[in-house]
Amino acid sequence: MLIEEINLIKEDAQGLINQSGTLKELEEIKIKFLGKKAKLSQILKSLGSVSKEERIIIGLHANRVKNVLEENIKNKTEILKQKQEEKSFQEEVLDLTFPGKRFSIGHFHPLTLVAQEIIEIFIGLGFEVVDGPEIESDYYNFEALNIGKDHPARDMWDSFYLEEKTLLRTHTSPVQIRVMRERQPPLRVVSYGKCYRRDAVDATHSWMFHQLEGFMADKEVSFADLKGILTAFAAAFFGKERKTKFIPAYFPFTEPSAEMSIDCFLCIGKGCKACHYSGWLEILGSGMIHPQVFRNVNYDSEKYSGFAFGMGIERIAMLKYGINDIRLFFENDLRFLRQF
Ligand code: DAH
Repeated sequence: MLIEEINLIKEDAQGLINQSGTLKELEEIKIKFLGKKAKLSQILKSLGSVSKEERIIIGLHANRVKNVLEENIKNKTEILKQKQEEKSFQEEVLDLTFPGKRFSIGHFHPLTLVAQEIIEIFIGLGFEVVDGPEIESDYYNFEALNIGKDHPARDMWDSFYLEEKTLLRTHTSPVQIRVMRERQPPLRVVSYGKCYRRDAVDATHSWMFHQLEGFMADKEVSFADLKGILTAFAAAFFGKERKTKFIPAYFPFTEPSAEMSIDCFLCIGKGCKACHYSGWLEILGSGMIHPQVFRNVNYDSEKYSGFAFGMGIERIAMLKYGINDIRLFFENDLRFLRQF
C-alpha cells in the first residue's frame, strides 16, 4: 500500500518537475514534495507504527525516491538556469552598428588661453608664477605702491570697497609688494588674475577684467633690461617682425614709467580704426620700480633696482583676435567661445 503511494508521489512529482518552466515553480515543487510537510516526509515519520521488515523496505524505498527527486530537481534547476541565461543574452544583444552618442569636450576660455601663452613666454625668460588674493587691503593695493591718499582710485566711487580698508583689488600690482615683503632679490615674478573697478560697462570697459603683472628685482637691473625683456615678449607673442616703441608715462610706483606699443599688425603701421589711425597699439604699462616702493618693503634702494610691467589680458586678446567688444568674453555665448 505505502509502496504504491510512494510510487504515485514520485510519478506526480516527476511530471511536475518536467513541466516546470521557471525556477520559482521548481522551488514550490521542491517544498511540496521534499519539505517537512510533504507526504513523503510524513510517511517516513509514520513508520514507527509498522512492522520492522516493512519499516526497512518502505524506509529504503522512500529514501531512494527522495534522493531521485532531489537529483531530478537539481538537474532541472541547471537546465532552467541555462535557459534563463541564454534568454537574457538574446535580449541584451549589442548592436555594434548603432551610432554612438556624441558628447562635446570643452576647452579653455580665450582669456585663459591668451594668459597661458603669455605666462609660458615669461617662464621661458626665467620668470616664476605667483598668485595673489583678489580681496586686498588698502595698504597693498595703494599705499605700499606709492599711490597717494588723494589718488582718485582711492575714491569710494572708483573701487569696490568691502570695508573701510578692504577692497577688491583694482590691479595686480599689489602682488609685487606681497612677494617682495616675503623674499629677497634676485626675483623674476609674473602674476595673473582678476581685477575690479567701478567702471560703467561698454565695448572696452568691464567692472571685472584680468591683468598680468610682472617684475624683476636684482642688483643692477636697468631700463635696458626692461626694454630687452618686454621686446622679447612682444616678438614671441605678436611675431618677430613687430616693432616696439616706449613712450614716457606716469605711474606712482615706477620712475621713470613707460607705455609700450607695437606697430599695428592690422594695417602694418599705415593707420586704421583699431590703432586710431596712429599706426601703433599700446599694449602695456611699465617702468623702473620706484625707490619708495623698495623702501616700503625694506629693500635697500641703493643696492637693488628693478622694473615692473602690467597688461590687460582682455585688451591683448581683443587685439590678437580682432574682437571689438569686451562684453563678448563674459556673455558665455558658445557661438563666440567655440571659435578659440
Ligand atoms: N597697475 C597698472 C594699471 O592697472 C599697470 C601697471 C603699469 C603695472 C606699470 C606695472 C607697471 O607693474 O610698472 O594700470
